[in-house]
Amino acid sequence: MNLSPHLSRLGVTEHHINHCRLPYEEEACTLADAGVDVFDRPLQMCPDTLDAWTGLQNAAELDGITLQVVSAFRSVEYQCNLIQNKLDRGLKLDDILRVNAIPGYSEHHSGRALDLTTPDYPPLEIEFDTSPAFQWLLKNAESHSFYLSYPKGNAARIDYEPWHWAYKSS
Ligand code: DAL
Ligand code: ZN
Repeated sequence: MNLSPHLSRLGVTEHHINHCRLPYEEEACTLADAGVDVFDRPLQMCPDTLDAWTGLQNAAELDGITLQVVSAFRSVEYQCNLIQNKLDRGLKLDDILRVNAIPGYSEHHSGRALDLTTPDYPPLEIEFDTSPAFQWLLKNAESHSFYLSYPKGNAARIDYEPWHWAYKSS
């Protein structure tokens, strides 16, 4: 995909791309319907991620932990809109890019990334890491081939995201 027109409209430069240290992520070409997210929006992810997610969610449920998805696949266009909306609200691009990946560089494009939450915790807030669900994920996600993409002090220079987990196919 030619990202240039999208990125220049947002004011994203080569400097931003080099600074962020995230790999390019192709938009997934095959997506499976996975019901709805926690806000009742249609949810899509890669078929192998859906299988692994179903296993992860069921295993959590057996341990009394409810896991819900806030966001999974996102297109480049969707990511552009997320950033544009924040720019329109007056946020600075450098600050936005610490929490939203540059379009074309978000793991969500791959269909393998899931933003997770659990009842009684606000979605996409750091305090998710104080939840029993997060503690359960730390112990069990790896055996279902999910990893925490943006731990504290990550090399990608993305702010800590305890909710963002990605499936790694073997
Ligand atoms: N919030 C993560 C970095 C993303 O936008 O993909
Ligand atoms: Zn995410």
